Amino acid sequence: MNGTKIIGPFSQLLTMDHLPLKGSLSDSQLEIIPSAGIFVCEGQIVETGLFSQLCSTFEDLVDIEYIDKEMVAMPGMIDPHTHICWAGSRANDYALRLAGKSYLEIARTGGGIMNTVIKTRDATANELEALLTERAMHHLRNGVTTIEVKSGYCLNTSGELKLLEASNSVNQQISVDLIPTCLAAHIKPSDFQFSNSDYLANIVEELLPELKRRNLTNRVDIFIDEGAFSTREAFDYLTKAKQLGFDLVIHGEQFTSGGVALACSLGAASVDHLEAIKDHEIQLLAASDVVAVALPGASLGLGCQFAPVRKLLDAGCALAIGSDWNPGSAPMGDLLLQTSIIGIFEKMTMAESLAAITVRAAAALGLNDRGILKKGYLADFIGFPVSDYKEILYNQGSLKPSMVWKRGDNKMKE
Ligand code: NIG
Ligand code: FE
Repeated sequence: MNGTKIIGPFSQLLTMDHLPLKGSLSDSQLEIIPSAGIFVCEGQIVETGLFSQLCSTFEDLVDIEYIDKEMVAMPGMIDPHTHICWAGSRANDYALRLAGKSYLEIARTGGGIMNTVIKTRDATANELEALLTERAMHHLRNGVTTIEVKSGYCLNTSGELKLLEASNSVNQQISVDLIPTCLAAHIKPSDFQFSNSDYLANIVEELLPELKRRNLTNRVDIFIDEGAFSTREAFDYLTKAKQLGFDLVIHGEQFTSGGVALACSLGAASVDHLEAIKDHEIQLLAASDVVAVALPGASLGLGCQFAPVRKLLDAGCALAIGSDWNPGSAPMGDLLLQTSIIGIFEKMTMAESLAAITVRAAAALGLNDRGILKKGYLADFIGFPVSDYKEILYNQGSLKPSMVWKRGDNKMKE
């Protein structure tokens, strides 16, 4: 059981409170509490405010966890899009991309997603749990306290169950929260003899009811693009998944246009990638409640353009950022670094960048208990060894948090 304590003083506490979910933000909208403390009880925030005031009010009742150096605190980062449950390496794909081959060309010639599928099918549940734990703990040490994890590297019923079981099992074993998502509709695997529609129908019949029965996830994702699934195929699949009670997510508009209209009409939680999104689709997205998730790690891993996040924000979209950490398009797995890089290229304000990996990322996952530091929210927060929050993005990812609290416990001690 977590103790009751006041943690501080922090030079600045960036609460991320009072920000609209959608549209552009200026840095002056950020709520910053100077000389701040956080009063924590059983993993939740009881109060935030001036450290001295919290201490004088509650000192006799609680312990004090002193911070004896300058430190800026903000909510733990939330990564709303990863594929970190995989085996093997695609360093060879990366070498081919450096030599000028495209992602789609490499996939057609033995690399790509199918290459990882073969390695991941061969891995035991224990091996996958170890790999997933190592990556999740790496993210936690870098300040990411909630991580979405997609399946999608086995692409048959038993294998996809193995991946989603692994995510659920690791979630029980480590303190970082994992949010599993079914991405059995990543591509049609090369050993499935029939059509794309037959493959998707098979998932609906065999896998989705089993996911419900075992309570492994309430989220279903599909990759809509050349070499994956068409919008038409996705419409039928997602409609059935929705009827079964799943929340919907779409990988859309990565290389070719498609996915946004479907996400809006079916009320998806988010549509992710968006590098190829068209202006009229931006308007559609802005008028909806669907969160746009940009994945700068995929642009950096493939050497392609970023999603047009400035346009998305100016149009009024809710914009989150995910790492897309995966063995193919996004092997780096550094959410803060990627956020700072897309920020400088696309001219995102610091408020927009930080909201995209905290409160707006929580919205992409439908989580309303985190991403903000205020009374009643989870005590998930991170501390950077600086006195001004602007240092965080200014250091372009090279400044890492020196303290990470998950539900009020300092995880850097472990
Ligand atoms: O989000 N675009 C589809 N899926 C992943 C890449 C997966 C892979 O290449 O292994 C992505 O970029
Ligand atoms: Fe992805």
